[in-house]
Amino acid sequence: MIEDVQELYRRGIRLTPEAYELLLKGKVAQALIERIITSGETVIGKELLDGFSAENEKIPDQPTVNRSPTFKPVAKEYAPDFKVINRSDVSGKSDCTGKLDDFVAHFRNRFERISALLRTRVTPNAIVKSAKLKETQGSKVRLIAMVTQKKVTKKGNLFLDVEDEEGAAKVVIPKDAPAFKDAKRLLNDDIIALDGRNADELFICENIEWPDVRVAREQKKSENDVAIAYISDLHFGSKKFLENEFSQFISWLNGTEGREELAGKVKYLMIAGDAVDGIGVYPSQEKELAVKDIYKQYEMLAEALEKVPDYITVIICPGNHDAVRKAEPQPIIPYDMFRTEVTRVGNPSKLEIEGLKHLMYHGTSLDSIISGISGLSYDRPEEAMLELVKRRHLSPIYGDNLIVPESRDYLVVDDEPDIVHMGHVHKNGYMLYRGVRLINSGTFQDRTEFQVRMGHVPTPGVVPVLETKSGKMTNLGFKQA
Ligand SMILES: [Fe+2]
Ligand SMILES: [Fe+2]
Repeated sequence: MIEDVQELYRRGIRLTPEAYELLLKGKVAQALIERIITSGETVIGKELLDGFSAENEKIPDQPTVNRSPTFKPVAKEYAPDFKVINRSDVSGKSDCTGKLDDFVAHFRNRFERISALLRTRVTPNAIVKSAKLKETQGSKVRLIAMVTQKKVTKKGNLFLDVEDEEGAAKVVIPKDAPAFKDAKRLLNDDIIALDGRNADELFICENIEWPDVRVAREQKKSENDVAIAYISDLHFGSKKFLENEFSQFISWLNGTEGREELAGKVKYLMIAGDAVDGIGVYPSQEKELAVKDIYKQYEMLAEALEKVPDYITVIICPGNHDAVRKAEPQPIIPYDMFRTEVTRVGNPSKLEIEGLKHLMYHGTSLDSIISGISGLSYDRPEEAMLELVKRRHLSPIYGDNLIVPESRDYLVVDDEPDIVHMGHVHKNGYMLYRGVRLINSGTFQDRTEFQVRMGHVPTPGVVPVLETKSGKMTNLGFKQA
């Protein structure tokens, strides 16, 4: 212990006589010494020391693993078959300089790519630019444009301002038009196709079409009989991190007796962000933290993930609590911060796993989608995810969710995914939509004070697992008895 005290002195940290006594007498955990060093305090008295000790006691134990002696995982027999689609990941490619031109290039890129998707849709109507609408007077045409404003008139019709690369148009969707019900879900910046007729200065719209995914689409399956486990929002370092439940999950991966069959198939573990609670993410967060050092939080995460069997590929992207820039798209969590061998990808990212196209996104924009479209709720995150898929964009409302205007918009969903994995809302949810599996993986953090105030009820300890050959989805519950 005397060496630890000397270490503190070497670092210029002084102890009051009382604190010195306590440190010398007591059996002091290494974590406490580190806490003193990282606290930034230069004089440590008894009160501070007591405070640090109390915090230290709350630091959760690392997961313990109960291995079944008979566990023979089939996943071990297969080589990993996955690739990261680099073009879709911002990591190492950020080119935003913060100038106005960046916004112009960003929105142009978004418009070009989403309107290209819409141009592939079969339509009997000729596609025209807004600047040419006057020449089409009376005949039925299709306009592809971005919504810049939406309002309901006194007569109950919907009025839109829209723009394309060549100009702008004013659109009315009469309340009795087939498009009216769907159009009420329109958001600013949505890029859609509008079918209708031009009449003087107004485009009378009867139908709208979202870029969406194709209607007739088979659910894709793999050749190898392996499984993928989807998790997110572990929040290591939070007082509400559920270490016992997470420990059970890790034990299950290692083959808990009686539950070995599905566990043995798990070849991939996807972590869609917020793996740690971070620091300074929201005001007064320190009161909710068991571990106030971000390095320590990642260290605990790394230690826990080291207990995942080594034939399982762990793939992780950041979320809004992670130690990378807050604005999306987010680059990978750097090795300096999180020292362990896992596959790091940006947020969002696209991957092919066992031939299945994965779109991995933390889901921060789900907040703005849920509050922006009536009828959506935190209870059914899969429905909010569906709205993003329909728009082929992961954060369509500009301004509500922090975005870096890169010259390439990394949040556009160019290819139709087979699986969309998100987290962030701490609520497990699943939906099969036109052959696309929408998975929200829930959390390993207990209900927070904020969630109580907001009336959100999370589903901690639930892990969705997909068997890639059969397409079977299982929701496993890891709850402390
Ligand atoms: Fe979270
Ligand atoms: Fe989050």
